[in-house]
Amino acid sequence: MQTPLDLGKRASASTYGPGGVRAGKAPFSAAPWVALGATLALLLAGCSDPGLSSSMPSVTSPITLGDTSQVGGIKPSDLVSFKALPAYSEPDWVTREFVAKGQLPPVSERLPRQPLVFGPAAMPDGLGVYGDVLRQVTGGRPEGWNYSAGQSQGWGGVDIGTMECLTRTGPLFLVDRDALEPLPNLARAWTWSRDGLQLTMDLVEGAKWSDGHPFTSDDVMFYWQDNVLDPNVSPLNGASGESFGPGTTLEAVGPYRIRWTFKRPFPRDYLYQMGYGKFCPGPAHVLRPQHPKYNQRNSYQNYKLAFPASRMNFPTMGAWVVTEYRPDDILILRRNPYFWKVDASGRQLPYLDEMQYRLLGWNDRDVQVIAGGSDLANLESPASFVEALRGAAKPGAGYRVAFGPRTSAYSVLMNLSGNGWGEPDGRAQALRDLNRQQAFRQAVSMAMDRQSLGLTQVGGPFVKPYAGGLLASSPFYDASATRQFDHDPRAARALLRSVGLIDRDGDGYVNYPPNVRNGENVTAILTASPDTITERTLAEGVLLFARDAGLRVVLRFASGPQRDALIASGQFDWVLARHDTTELTTVVQGADALAPMGPYTHKSHRAGPNGQLDLLAYEREMVRLTQAFIATDNNSERRRLMSQYQRVSTEQVNTVGLIQFPGGLLIDKRLANVPPRTPTIMFNWAEDALMRERLFVPKARQSRHELRPGTLPGCFACRSPASGGKP
Ligand code: GLA
Repeated sequence: MQTPLDLGKRASASTYGPGGVRAGKAPFSAAPWVALGATLALLLAGCSDPGLSSSMPSVTSPITLGDTSQVGGIKPSDLVSFKALPAYSEPDWVTREFVAKGQLPPVSERLPRQPLVFGPAAMPDGLGVYGDVLRQVTGGRPEGWNYSAGQSQGWGGVDIGTMECLTRTGPLFLVDRDALEPLPNLARAWTWSRDGLQLTMDLVEGAKWSDGHPFTSDDVMFYWQDNVLDPNVSPLNGASGESFGPGTTLEAVGPYRIRWTFKRPFPRDYLYQMGYGKFCPGPAHVLRPQHPKYNQRNSYQNYKLAFPASRMNFPTMGAWVVTEYRPDDILILRRNPYFWKVDASGRQLPYLDEMQYRLLGWNDRDVQVIAGGSDLANLESPASFVEALRGAAKPGAGYRVAFGPRTSAYSVLMNLSGNGWGEPDGRAQALRDLNRQQAFRQAVSMAMDRQSLGLTQVGGPFVKPYAGGLLASSPFYDASATRQFDHDPRAARALLRSVGLIDRDGDGYVNYPPNVRNGENVTAILTASPDTITERTLAEGVLLFARDAGLRVVLRFASGPQRDALIASGQFDWVLARHDTTELTTVVQGADALAPMGPYTHKSHRAGPNGQLDLLAYEREMVRLTQAFIATDNNSERRRLMSQYQRVSTEQVNTVGLIQFPGGLLIDKRLANVPPRTPTIMFNWAEDALMRERLFVPKARQSRHELRPGTLPGCFACRSPASGGKP
C-alpha cells in the first residue's frame, strides 16, 4: 500500500530532510517545507470534481513519486494500427463550409487508403467529440519553419506539433517493456532482411501534406540526401549521417517504400532515432526549390532563412497548421484538413479545432495554467510545485496536476576536449587540462552540496541528489554501482591540492602552479540559461559551493539559440545542463549519446580542428560499454553493461550531477483522454507522449477560447497571412 506521499523504493530516510542541510553552510531557507505541509493538508482535505476524466487521478488521489515509471501492459498495436474503415467523418462545419462549397475534396479522399487508427489503449476516456482549443505557452520564439535546415519553431511543443516523424516514441511510457519498440507513424510497417543488414519500411500510402500535396518517399529522400547528409545543413535536433550509423545508406524503392542498409545487423536502436527529432522530413515540394543544390542562386543561408516565421501555412504532416503569428504575442494553429490519423469510428483527428501558443517566458508557462490562461504545461520548475499543488487543491480549481517519475535532472558538463574544439584561449585551455583530470572533477563534485541545491528549488519529497550517470528513474539504474561523492569542501580542497592547485595569494581562490598561467587564479566560466528560475538559482548555487572549496566560477548567462550555439561549437568550460534528452532514462532511446561515439556527436566532447577525438581512457571504456549495449538484445546482459557504465561514469565524475526531480503536468480539467502518469520527459516530451491529436473536450465543458472559429489553414504559396478560411 502506498502512502499518500510515497518517496519510492530508493529514497532513503536521510535523503533530503531539513536535517540534511549543514549548519552554517546553507544560504537557503527550508521554508518550503512549511508551505508543502500546508499544501498536503489541503490535498488530503481534497476536493472532488465529478466531471473529471476517469483516467486522470484527481488531486485527492495519492501522489506517488516513485523513481521508476509504471509502464503499462500495453502493446504497440493497442495504441495505433493502420486500416481502412467503412466510413469517415469530420467536423460538420468543415463539410458544410468547405467540402460542400467545392473548396476541399471529401474527407475520405483527403485521407490515406489506410489511415493511422488510434486503438482503445490510446483512448482512456473513449472516443471524443469535435470542438474547442488547446491553449499553451512557450518561452521560445519561432525563428522560422525550415527545421530541416535547423530553424526552431519556438519549442514548447510547437516543434512536436508541426513535425511528424518516421516512428513515434513519446507514448512508449505506456507500453509493456517486453513489447517495447517504437510505434509506427509515417513508416507504417517495416521488415528486416534475414541477415539484419537491411530494413525495408513502408510509408503510409496516400497521406498528404496540409496543403494537399502527396507525402512520398521523395520527401524522405530529400530530407536524407540534401539535409541530413549535406555537410552544409544542420537539421534541428542535430541529425547527421552518423545518427544512423557510419556507412548507412537509404534508398527509395518506390513512392511508398524506402530501404536502409546498415553496416551491422539488426541495429534496432535506430528505430528510436527515426522518431522525434532526428527523422521528421520537411515538405520537399516547397523546400527543394530553395535548396542551393537545385537553385544555384541561393546560398545555404538563404535556404535556411527562406521560410521566416511570418510565412504562414507552412505545409506540415502534423495535426495543426500555423495560420497566424504575432511576434511576442501569439501563434494560432488551425486543424489540418489533410491530417492522416482517425479514431476507431473513422472520425478524422484532431478533435480540437485550434491550438494556441502565447509567446511569453518559460516561467509563465505554469503561472498561466494556474491563473486559468492556459490549458497545458510541463511543470518543470520545482519552485512552482507547491504553488501548483495548492492551486489545484482549491475548490473549483480549473486545472489538475499530475506528477510523473523523476525524469528531470541537472548537471554540470565539463568540456573534455584537450585538442582545440571550440578554439579555447590560454585560460580556457588551462581549465580544460584540469577538466581532464579525475581528481579535479571529483573535487568539483565534492564541493557541491546537493541537499541545499535541492532546497533552493523546493522542500519535501520532490528533489533528490543526482550523482550523474543514469537517472534513478531508469529501468537500467543500479544504485549499488552509483558512486555519490558527498559534500565535503575540505576533501575537495585536498583533491585540488593534489593536482597542484593551492590558494597561494590568500584571496580565497586556488591558483595554478607558478609555471602555469603565471600562477593566476583558476577560473571556470559556467554557461547557463537565464530563462528559467531553476537554472538561474542552480547556477548561483554552483558558484557559491565552488567558492567554498576555493574555486572561482564566473557565470555567463546566454539565452535560447545563443546558448545552444555556444555549446554546439565547443565554446564553453562548463555548462549547466538540463537533462532534456532520453538516453539517461530510457537508455534504449538515443543510447549513442551516452558516450562520445563519433567525432561530432557528443555534447561535451567533440573532435578538435584536426578531426580527432582525444578520448580519455575512461571515455573509451564508456564508448565500449555503450557499443556493447547497442549490439545486444539480451536484457540481463544489457543490465550488466549499464551497471558497469554507471560505475565508470559516476566514479569518474563524467558529469557533475546536481539534482533530479519529477516533472509534473498541469492540465485544464475540461480535457479528456489524458493518459495517467504521463512523464514530462521520458521517450520524448509530454507534448508527444500525450498524443494531443486525440485530446478532446466533452460538449458540456467546451470553452469559448477559440479565436478563429470556422476557419481552416489558408494558402501557403500566396504568401499572405491566414486568409480567413480560404484553403
Ligand atoms: C522545451 C520545454 C519542454 C518541451 C520542449 C518541447 O524544451 O522546456 O518542456 O516543451 O520544449 O520540445
